[in-house]
Amino acid sequence: MVEKVLLRLEGVQTHIGRYHILHGVDLVVPEGELTVLLGRNGAGKTTTLRTIMGLWRASAGRIVFDGADITRMATPDIARLGIAYVPEAMGIFTGLSVRENLVLATATGRFDAALLDGVFALFPVLKVKWNDAAGGLSGGQKQMLAISRAMVERRRLMIVDEPTKGLAPAVIEHLIGGFRTLKESRTTVLLVEQNFHMARSLGDGVAVMDDGRVVHAGGMVELAGDEALQGRLLGLSLAAHQ
Ligand SMILES: Nc1ncnc2c1ncn2[C@@H]1O[C@H](COP(=O)(O)OP(=O)(O)O)[C@@H](O)[C@H]1O
Ligand SMILES: [Mg+2]
Repeated sequence: MVEKVLLRLEGVQTHIGRYHILHGVDLVVPEGELTVLLGRNGAGKTTTLRTIMGLWRASAGRIVFDGADITRMATPDIARLGIAYVPEAMGIFTGLSVRENLVLATATGRFDAALLDGVFALFPVLKVKWNDAAGGLSGGQKQMLAISRAMVERRRLMIVDEPTKGLAPAVIEHLIGGFRTLKESRTTVLLVEQNFHMARSLGDGVAVMDDGRVVHAGGMVELAGDEALQGRLLGLSLAAHQ
């Protein structure tokens, strides 16, 4: 089967104020796959995601989603194409209940029953905590809620920034299970993840960033099986994160 590329970045450069952060990012996200974006702290992963969403403006290069050039589109229009973004800070409303957080993430204020069932199947605890304030959830449960907010509408692409940051190993295993189920539904995901265990368990493809560029792209199986390559590409980030 020939893969279709859902999202493509070509030579994307981003400046934040007077700082030149992205120096020409090339990245391909095939449809129906989970692509992991790795790289040490400060490599430019979050800036890449924010540039895709139009939250930073690319100063050069092109971002193409499903054949359409979205480089200069406004963020709400990009979201309306079916791209969901779960930022590192999760963006949940701690004073509102789980239900209210999810209602606000729908386009119409009404749940699609099948999609909501999908959320409950993935994260049953959210059904238990349905009327509880989101601020009282554990870190892992907050992350599940943040991911679920991206799932109450039909999406073509989910972009998730470091969902395991600060979570306990058992909770990470639970999230891995959740992403596995998403993969079975052939949802296309671009996942920034520093936890190599999680990255290896889930990734079909992998891109490694350093200093505002993608310095390696390929299959996760190849990277997982090549310790020398891992050491060369990830030595820094692994040392900094374990
Ligand atoms: N709002 C900002 N203003 C100035 N510099 C920033 C800003 N956001 C990020 N940077 C810088 O851009 C670089 C890349 O950051 P980021 O994309 O957050 O990296 P990563 O997500 O890979 O850790 C870092 O050097 C960071 O300090
Ligand atoms: Mg980041």
